[in-house]
Amino acid sequence: MNYQRITVERMAGACGAEIGGVDLSKPLDAATAAEIRRALLENLVVVFRDQPLDDHGLQTFTRGLGEFGIEPYVEGTETAPHVVAVIKEADEVRSVNFGGNWHSDWSFQETPPAFTILHARQTPPFGGDTLFANQYLAWEALSPGLRAMLGGMRAMHSARRPYGPQGTYAGGRNARSMKISTGESALAEQSQPVVRVHAETGREALYVNKVYTIRFEDMTERESAPLLGFLCDHAVRPEFTCRVDWRPGTLTVWDNRCVQHFAINDYDGHRREMHRTTVRGEKPIATGEDHNRRAAE
Ligand code: SIN
Repeated sequence: MNYQRITVERMAGACGAEIGGVDLSKPLDAATAAEIRRALLENLVVVFRDQPLDDHGLQTFTRGLGEFGIEPYVEGTETAPHVVAVIKEADEVRSVNFGGNWHSDWSFQETPPAFTILHARQTPPFGGDTLFANQYLAWEALSPGLRAMLGGMRAMHSARRPYGPQGTYAGGRNARSMKISTGESALAEQSQPVVRVHAETGREALYVNKVYTIRFEDMTERESAPLLGFLCDHAVRPEFTCRVDWRPGTLTVWDNRCVQHFAINDYDGHRREMHRTTVRGEKPIATGEDHNRRAAE
């Protein structure tokens, strides 16, 4: 694809590209902003290096992509309410990190975020990379028979495993350097299509993940487990992935409608601080639903 305003270098076979030639601390002209969005839709994950943004600049860049998403269970910083600091301190060892399992952000919401933006402020000397997996490819690699069966199915998503009263973060056991709340509200369930149609590209992507998808609709967890387990493992096969290594000033944007991600927890003894925002998305669209009508909602 041709770009006039930015450079775009693919990072891996499945997804991911490094974007150059742009300073995100300055206002973006319409043509540059449009090329960035096109690069994001084509590559699913885009990485900008050496962007010394503060929280205000991060919020401004985020608004250029759409409206802010709603952040449940985590709090924004004092001066920038839409910016969440994702921190693991050097002395937080042998604990679960925020984002440390395969997921698509807030997939239990009725309108989960379209995009997440993560900006590295302090990075460990090694480790702390983030993995991404292309869910268009995951869907396309399934057999026609399984795709035909899954096409009409829905699954229930819930925040209860991480944020429920007995969840991973309950009692401040894990990710203690972050302000995370847990409780009964996390027990709610939200129905989502198993395969969703991307509102901007029209492509179909698998939409189940290990953290938030708990069962298929109208089935028990036990009945769902074998097929759901297969799909969650299949979704993150190495050939569907790319890996982002961070240094201070790296800013990455990903499209939650067609990728899952996983923050690798391999840097005990070192501090990592990232600042994160999200962009509001549409209600996930099922195959066969009126794509244009829903995209306009
Ligand atoms: C997240 O899941 O948003 C955190 C990703 C990361 O820290 O790399």
